[in-house]
Amino acid sequence: MTAAKLTLDGREFELPAESGSEGEKIIDITRLRAESMAIALDPGFGNTGACRSAITFIDGERGILRYRGYPIEELARGARFTEVCFLLIYGHLPTRDELDQFREKLTYHTLIHEDMKKFFEGYPPSAHPMAILSAMVSALSTYYPVDNADENVDLNIIRLLAKAKTIAAFAYKKSIGQAFQYPRNALSYTGNFLHMMFSLNTEPYEVPQVLDDALNLLLVLHADHEQNCSTSTVRLVGSSDANLFASVAAGICALWGPLHGGANQRVIEMLQLIHADGGNHRKYVDMAKDKASGFRLMGFGHRVYKNFDPRAKLLKEAADQVLHQLGVDDPLLDLAKHLEEVALKDDYFLEKKLYPNVDFYSGILYRAMGIPTDMFTVMFALGRLPGWLAHWKELRQDPERRIGRPRQLYTGETERAFVPLAKR
Ligand code: CMC
Repeated sequence: MTAAKLTLDGREFELPAESGSEGEKIIDITRLRAESMAIALDPGFGNTGACRSAITFIDGERGILRYRGYPIEELARGARFTEVCFLLIYGHLPTRDELDQFREKLTYHTLIHEDMKKFFEGYPPSAHPMAILSAMVSALSTYYPVDNADENVDLNIIRLLAKAKTIAAFAYKKSIGQAFQYPRNALSYTGNFLHMMFSLNTEPYEVPQVLDDALNLLLVLHADHEQNCSTSTVRLVGSSDANLFASVAAGICALWGPLHGGANQRVIEMLQLIHADGGNHRKYVDMAKDKASGFRLMGFGHRVYKNFDPRAKLLKEAADQVLHQLGVDDPLLDLAKHLEEVALKDDYFLEKKLYPNVDFYSGILYRAMGIPTDMFTVMFALGRLPGWLAHWKELRQDPERRIGRPRQLYTGETERAFVPLAKR
């Protein structure tokens, strides 16, 4: 590729151009300020590449998502979540031995320190589980070495991946006032989570295979999504040399927002609202088109996907199959489909290229599994965890790593003299 040319105040600057392994073009502006004294302005970072990354590729125009080169459709069909975690974090699909060892390590690090159980007692029963998850993940840094030495990082990655689901399940048990259920070593990653969520002291929960598989699919589909808001947060915090637990805790907070992972909770609340209002989905499609209403169709639209979100397509099919297998008839699934149908024929949504995203159908599946609405974003966090870990690790190993420190266009007052209080 030839260099880009920029003319500013009559001077010409050359900006090197490059392309990625999938042919994406970039203009390298790292020397822009040093040479021209100008900076690039890009609110929302829609045109800014913050790093080079070899983890996930997305082509939003063609609805393509690949982890380490493997199409999401193939991983969704054939991979277990633990394999995908390994793939994202270590860069290649595990051999049988590697996977067995990885799973064993995850199994034996699932427990949290007994003292940490006391932390749960301090939260009110109404506490949102995302608040608990972020606080508890941050608190893990008080129990383990966090000096970012390689051997500690490797183990902390395993610890976090293993313990996050225990923390999530304990947060749920706390919210409903039930006894915590300890993990069982004989169970799979997904099976163990469902056991910790739904077993009772008096009655163990036998995890139905259909739910184990549905959870596996959900986690695989959420596992990474390159430089999204929460992953960028993890990288930004990590760029200051903050420890892994602190960086991921920040990512969890970023994910919580309703424009990001928090949308899955909002989708179900929206569908419930429309259902309770007589199911008139057209009224809500019209409201979403009217900016003055302040209402958006939750689970619709994406910064990158401008054609379709392949994850939404897979989840819609899965929702149909799983509900059928469970014999569940959820009116919200029909409502979601009607809403999608109307929106996808509407000029507003067509012109703005707004399609259902991953959050649109995931909640229907979580509901069928018996997971309460305010746990949905926690489920997203459990799925996204390997992505955060892979990006944090990649950042640590990046020779170009510098502390993340954007600039700004200052639009405030120019210099003025301070006026003492008595004279104001
Ligand atoms: N309903 C109605 N209008 C919308 C919607 C929507 N869901 N999403 C975007 N628009 C409109 C928006 O008003 C804007 O119109 P205009 O150009 O006239 O100002 C245009 O479409 C572009 O929207 P934007 O907000 O500038 O786009 P963005 O890339 O900054 O935001 C988004 C992307 C996902 C935050 C946004 O589409 C949205 O708020 N969607 C609803 C929340 C949601 O489902 N979030 C989950 C995202 S996928 C999972 C994840 O990554 O977390």
